[in-house]
Amino acid sequence: MFDILECDDALRGRLAVQFASNDGFITLPPSSMPAGFAPSIVSFVFMMNGAHVETYMPDDVSYGGASSTWQSIAGNDAVPGGYRPVHVTAGSFHDAFAELVELLALATSPPPAGVDAAVSFSSPMQVPRHAGDLVDLDAVAERRARKRVVSAEGLAELLKQHIVGQDLAVQQVARAVRRQLAKSHPERPLTICFLGPSGVGKTEVTWVLPECLRALDGELPPFGFCVLPMNEYRSEADVTRLLGASAGHVGFGEVSALVKQLAANPRSIIVFDEIDKAHPAIGIALMSAMSSGKLGLNQEIGGRHELDCSKAIFVFTSNQAAESILDEIETGGATKIHDANEVCRGQLHAAGVSTPIIGRISEFVVFKPLDAVARTKIAVLSVQRIAGEYGVELVSIDPDIIAEVLQRSGGEDFGVRPLVDVATELLGDTLVDAIAQTDPGPCRLVGMPPICKPADAGPPVNDPWSQFDAATTGRGSSDPTSEEESEPRPSLTREAPINP
Ligand SMILES: Nc1ncnc2c1ncn2[C@@H]1O[C@H](COP(=O)(O)OP(=O)(O)O)[C@@H](O)[C@H]1O
Ligand SMILES: [Mg+2]
Repeated sequence: MFDILECDDALRGRLAVQFASNDGFITLPPSSMPAGFAPSIVSFVFMMNGAHVETYMPDDVSYGGASSTWQSIAGNDAVPGGYRPVHVTAGSFHDAFAELVELLALATSPPPAGVDAAVSFSSPMQVPRHAGDLVDLDAVAERRARKRVVSAEGLAELLKQHIVGQDLAVQQVARAVRRQLAKSHPERPLTICFLGPSGVGKTEVTWVLPECLRALDGELPPFGFCVLPMNEYRSEADVTRLLGASAGHVGFGEVSALVKQLAANPRSIIVFDEIDKAHPAIGIALMSAMSSGKLGLNQEIGGRHELDCSKAIFVFTSNQAAESILDEIETGGATKIHDANEVCRGQLHAAGVSTPIIGRISEFVVFKPLDAVARTKIAVLSVQRIAGEYGVELVSIDPDIIAEVLQRSGGEDFGVRPLVDVATELLGDTLVDAIAQTDPGPCRLVGMPPICKPADAGPPVNDPWSQFDAATTGRGSSDPTSEEESEPRPSLTREAPINP
């Protein structure tokens, strides 16, 4: 059974696409309602009226619960056609859906202080012009505004649980995101560019950002997410397809991932990954989206020729000119963000990245090469994550295994990307052997070659990182043949990071 309060991003996205492709009209699947409603299964209707989305429910639905908001809504006069207005929202299906969820949540719990004051009703005998007359939209907007202000420190801390050794970059990202979320009427998306060498966490930050935003507050409207690998947009025709091909051209009628994502949820993080690989026409295609918050489409979708992207976050990434940028910032004494931005603009320009894009990026974040300590921590996290994929819970990892992973994955030139492959190759068979036994339980990963041992077959272990300092990039000091007698191993007390 469909449950509006539990509806996940994916389903909400599909509904929004249906809404857009059905001329702004959609009936939700039958949904289970909170206690107090009769019947307990209801289908809501969403309808576009000018720039507003109107929400209706069947007029035979009654409400006998404690929420005065719902008592009043259920007492509203029906409009012709057997439907009763619930509310009107300026903007998108996504906003209207979020507002319905908010209203339904009021029916499940006693309304918090002040909420009743936020909703004012016309006389029950008066037929409302439309449902918007029922709700004091200013008060609702104010309540929302308070929810939108998030803590930059809190967000940075959450990001750091996944991203190692990039504290400055992560803090800068968190501050930029906070500023964008706090805007009630943003005119354009946040346009931010992550620069730095390959394999140091630029794309990884974008992957974990939606999850961190969700964990941060729980009350922010959910963010959608979409990565567009720019090496798939090398020709002008590819770029044209990004905005939908015009009638008579190849690809007409197909909806690109970008358009689908923004139609489904205007609050989306869109990653233009490795922007330097795209055809320069990408600059023209995105120019107005970046400066006016409207993405023009080459074909009509859901009756519209443009999509609102003012609430989106556009992240561009590039490995281009990483070394020169770092050199120039360090030696040229670019201490202020403003100076650093100019350095990045100049270097990207020299590297041939599309000028309209460079000029419209509001902030650049420079990721640094990862030092030995960071690489070691990431190796530990990678091993932990791979074990997690096989359902094996690790309580400790032998430093020799980490040293081997680091050694086999080469120098700094490739960032830490090879670590994951090396760790998979080194440990895959061992982990399969471990799960071949019925319920291996918590394990210690010991030795070289590695073996999984039951956690209780050795001494207890405490500090997760003590043996993984910078010196550990060479071989560890323990003797692999006598691991039962050796010093206690470091234990992993942190949760394995979960990547979507
Ligand atoms: N700073 C980091 N912290 C944690 N993991 C990282 C970090 N940098 C890279 N990784 C790991 O390496 C992989 C590749 O990193 P990625 O962010 O895609 O590199 P790039 O900087 O080139 O975009 C990631 O999926 C992640 O597993
Ligand atoms: Mg990347």
